[in-house]
Order: sequence, then C-alpha cells, then structure tokens
Amino acid sequence: MIRPATISDVPYMVRIINNYAERGLMIHRSPAELYERIRDYRIVQLDDGLVVGVGGLRVLWANWAEVYGLALAPEARGKGFGKQLVEALIDEARRLAVHNIFALTYERVFFEHCGFSLVDRRSLPMKVWSECIRCPKHDNCDEIAVVRQLDDVPDLGSPLQSTADAVAASGGTFGAASGGGGVENEDYENLPIPQVTPAVLRIDASVRSTT
Ligand SMILES: CC(C)(COP(=O)(O)OP(=O)(O)OC[C@H]1O[C@@H](n2cnc3c(N)ncnc32)[C@H](O)[C@@H]1OP(=O)(O)O)[C@@H](O)C(=O)NCCC(=O)NCCS
Repeated sequence: MIRPATISDVPYMVRIINNYAERGLMIHRSPAELYERIRDYRIVQLDDGLVVGVGGLRVLWANWAEVYGLALAPEARGKGFGKQLVEALIDEARRLAVHNIFALTYERVFFEHCGFSLVDRRSLPMKVWSECIRCPKHDNCDEIAVVRQLDDVPDLGSPLQSTADAVAASGGTFGAASGGGGVENEDYENLPIPQVTPAVLRIDASVRSTT
C-alpha cells in the first residue's frame, strides 16, 4: 500500500534513507527534518505493517517540484514499489498543479522507466541547488538531472511574472506601484485565474460526498 506518511513512520524513514546516505547515494535526513516535512512524503507499507519505502515531493516554485528522499529497503527493491511511489508523488504534483517534476539522481534508468527524461542540470532553476550545500559532494556533484512534464497540467510560468507581464501589456504601472518587487493589493484583480485540475475536482467531490 502507498499512503501519506505519518509521524510514526519517521523512525523507519530515517533508517531506510540513511542506510543509503551513509554510502554517499543520498542526502542524510534527520528525524527533525522529516517531522517538519512530513507532509511531503509517501510511504510503502506491506500487508504485515512493515514500512519498506519512502519518497517525497517538495515544491520549489510555481512550476517546479522535486522528487526527493526516494528509497526502498534493500529487500523491497526491484518489486515495482519505487515506480508506484513515484506515481503517487506525480499524482500529488498534479493535484497541486505543478507542471515540471525533476529529480537529481544516480538512477537514470529507473527514472526513465517512470517517464522522466535526462536534461542538462544547468537548465534547472537556481533554487534547485539550495540543498546541495548539505551534500558532501557539492563541489564535485556527479548526479544527473531528470525531468517529467505533466501535459495535463498547464504550464503557468511564474504567476507573479505573468501578472507583471499582463499589467505591462495593458499599459499599467506594475513596476512603479510595487517598486518592482511583490504584488500590491491593487494588482490582485490582474492575477491569473487559478487552474483547477481534474485531480483537485475529484478530491473536492469526495470531500463533499462524505459531509
Ligand atoms: C532507485 C529505487 C528507488 C528504485 O525502486 P525499485 O522499487 O527498486 O524500482 P522498481 O522495481 O519500481 O522499478 C521500476 C522500473 O525501473 C526498472 N529499474 C529500476 N532500477 C533499475 C536499474 N538500476 N537498472 C535498470 N532498470 C531499473 C525496473 O526494471 C522497472 O522496470 P519496468 O518499468 O519495466 O517494470 C530503489 O532501487 C532504491 O531505493 N535505490 C537506492 C536509493 C536510491 O538510489 N534512491 C534514488 C535517489 S533519487
């Protein structure tokens, strides 16, 4: 079963991830960090209750989310659980309406089987590299970057940039009104209409049907 992680999964998550971190294959995760980011994670749990897999999705910007902290216990590898975890994380990205999903990895073939394609690491936005400072190999990174784009999720770009473009195109004063930075209240009417994906509508319908 693949399900959202809960606090009681954290000891398993620490053990599964840090088994690979100790060999330089993943970034080390502390219990404190996993508790704080628990909403990012999905878990593989076997019928007997044992937790054997973990994977996270973190949103970095309007258009970008990362599959990270993905690992199976050694005895659970090669049974399709990794791919199921990635699909669950992709579903979450779709629900959140994020268009580009990426991963930094040594597991190129696995991610290709999950619909990702190899890209030049330098094509990723700068914010992607915020975690690299924690990696012992950050000066000598040999991971590759893979990306999957969700064709059924609109590619919005940055909503704030879209707003600036829209206001500029209409002869407005976005730059002067906001000092070239954030969006002031008066700009709200120009914000793009939020995109609601079928995945969001499905969740909304199921919530309504239970109340
Ligand atoms: C990488 C990892 C998450 C993959 O999970 P998994 O459960 O072993 O992989 P799956 O069984 O779901 O494999 C899915 C597909 O990828 C293929 N595949 C997986 N790993 C592969 C490899 N190293 N070489 C070739 N093919 C591979 C499988 O054959 C399968 O093919 P299919 O789509 O035709 O069925 C897991 O092996 C792992 O925990 N590795 C160590 C930690 C790690 O490196 N994590 C990645 C950090 S980004």
